[in-house]
Amino acid sequence: MNKRSLGRTGFQVSELGFGAAPTAYLKSDAAAAAAMLNALLDDGLNLIDTATSYPGSQAFIGEHLSSRRDEYVLVSKVGGKFRGVEGPDWSEAVVTAAVDNALKELRTDHVDVMLLHTCSLETLQNGEALGALVKAREAGKIRFAGFSGDNEAAAWAAGNEDIAVIETSINIADQKNIDLVLPVAREKNVGVIVKRPIANACWKDLNDQPGMYKNYAAEYTKRLAAMSITPADLGFDGAPNDVWPTIALRFTLSQPGVSSALVGTTRLANAQKNFEAVSQGPLSADVVTKLRDAFKKADPAGAWTGQT
Ligand SMILES: NC(=O)c1ccc[n+]([C@@H]2O[C@H](COP(=O)([O-])OP(=O)(O)OC[C@H]3O[C@@H](n4cnc5c(N)ncnc54)[C@H](OP(=O)(O)O)[C@@H]3O)[C@@H](O)[C@H]2O)c1
Repeated sequence: MNKRSLGRTGFQVSELGFGAAPTAYLKSDAAAAAAMLNALLDDGLNLIDTATSYPGSQAFIGEHLSSRRDEYVLVSKVGGKFRGVEGPDWSEAVVTAAVDNALKELRTDHVDVMLLHTCSLETLQNGEALGALVKAREAGKIRFAGFSGDNEAAAWAAGNEDIAVIETSINIADQKNIDLVLPVAREKNVGVIVKRPIANACWKDLNDQPGMYKNYAAEYTKRLAAMSITPADLGFDGAPNDVWPTIALRFTLSQPGVSSALVGTTRLANAQKNFEAVSQGPLSADVVTKLRDAFKKADPAGAWTGQT
């Protein structure tokens, strides 16, 4: 698995990362998911993204992967109120308590990158939440502070000297952050990890989408229909549902400045397909241009913002 620099952090991260949001849904299948994640680490994946607000996810990673802690770059997120902690969202008290809770659940003495989990631009600029992450960094609880979010807030965050990493949505049906956020991130040498990199697999029947994906996937389905482009138009053979995930993942990783794409799956077969897709490298410039043109043509007013 190829590695890329994560901006100025000094970390080298695998092009494919593990998005742990779906681990919040695990029940009897937890052991199989843990085995899958260990196998992904064996195969060279070294970036794991979780959050305070994915119920049980940090504890799952702590339980099953803390014995291999020095083998991966660990990213988590804080900001909103959580179980039993007093105080307003994004306050210093809540952010600090969430950082401490993350260390406990993840069974580690530091998180490599801690992100503010999608607050507004006003909250970012107010500085209290970011200030709490800076204090956590100075205390050695986290190595770097960052922001997970989109659009104007993510562009502002990428330009802030305390922010070393941005997590943002980029995919074939979500291209605004390519023009708004990536140029700032490249200029400031900020690491970019991408969420929703395969457009929430919006080719699937909506009834097969887990609850947390439904609205986002529905929006991407609408956008792709309006883009009116098929894998065959791009020179790819095969049934669209089989080929789109590969094209989508490679499109995301073709964008200059992207360090890693976090795919959220606990299904081994899909994880293996994603490894195979990434190993094929970036798409040709011609295919990228066709996908970018189709997006711009379908949304000439620029109304399709990055989905948070
Ligand atoms: N605001 C935020 O901070 C935020 C928001 C969204 C996401 N994230 C992070 O980013 C990660 C990734 O985003 P995401 O999970 O929303 O979107 P995603 O990775 O674009 O899509 C996940 C969906 O893709 C399916 N899938 C994965 N590989 C596939 C393949 N090869 N073929 C067909 N279907 C495939 C999964 O289904 P199966 O389970 O059936 O494989 C799942 O339904 C999350 O897990 C989370 O860590 C953060």
